[in-house]
Amino acid sequence: MIAIGSDHGGYELKEFVKRHLIENGIEVKDYGVFTEDSVDYPDCARPVCKAVQSGEAERGILLCGTGIGISMAANKFKGIRAALCGDVYSAKMTAEHNNANILCLGGRVTGRELAFMIVDTWLSTPFAGGRHADRIAKIHAIENE
Ligand code: RB5
Repeated sequence: MIAIGSDHGGYELKEFVKRHLIENGIEVKDYGVFTEDSVDYPDCARPVCKAVQSGEAERGILLCGTGIGISMAANKFKGIRAALCGDVYSAKMTAEHNNANILCLGGRVTGRELAFMIVDTWLSTPFAGGRHADRIAKIHAIENE
């Protein structure tokens, strides 16, 4: 299952990404928001990050206006590796090298069709492991400093 969530700035693109995933047979759980009323993006990051941390969701997708604030918030949660991607190459590499468990998108930055390509690439690219796993372990070691 993919957990998805956004603030008001990412709401519109979230709805399109959610529909795209469902149309491709992927199970999605939407943690909101469900309107364009103004909210605080750290609050929107929390439920999706918790779902990934607990294993309830395999991965998550988070959106805000730029994707920046919500990725900053997501990366404060232990075990979360959130990657803000605005291009397909980065989406491929963050799956292959960083094993990103949350993909962040900017709802006011990235067009719908490009967002679909980014999501599809991130979901379909396997993690390479090896030296990249060692580097990820070093990221998470920082959480204990
Ligand atoms: C909300 O206006 C906006 O600041 C938010 O969606 C996001 O872009 C923050 O990084």
